[in-house]
Amino acid sequence: MRHTISVLNTGGLQSDTSFNCDEDVSVLHAMIHAGKGPIRHGCCGGACGVCKARIVSGDFYAFKPMSAVHVSEAEKKGGIVLLCCVQPRSDMRIARG
Ligand code: FES
Repeated sequence: MRHTISVLNTGGLQSDTSFNCDEDVSVLHAMIHAGKGPIRHGCCGGACGVCKARIVSGDFYAFKPMSAVHVSEAEKKGGIVLLCCVQPRSDMRIARG
């Protein structure tokens, strides 16, 4: 199933943007493939923490462990994830972590 991921404007000059993401693809991979989104990426494997972002709304599945060095338990409870480690399970809205 395919979902729409919206990246919220964080107050800069860039407008909101959106892209599609299948359930078997990481949100980061879909964003890179679509050439959209202001969120940076690095290792694409859950190790560097560069793709840290906040899930504002929507359901997701963490298919890879997220390094505790980059995402604490408190941050996880606040919706912070590594986008290379999550796949969508509904339409989602995300913002920079
Ligand atoms: S790109 Fe390195 S943790 Fe996601």
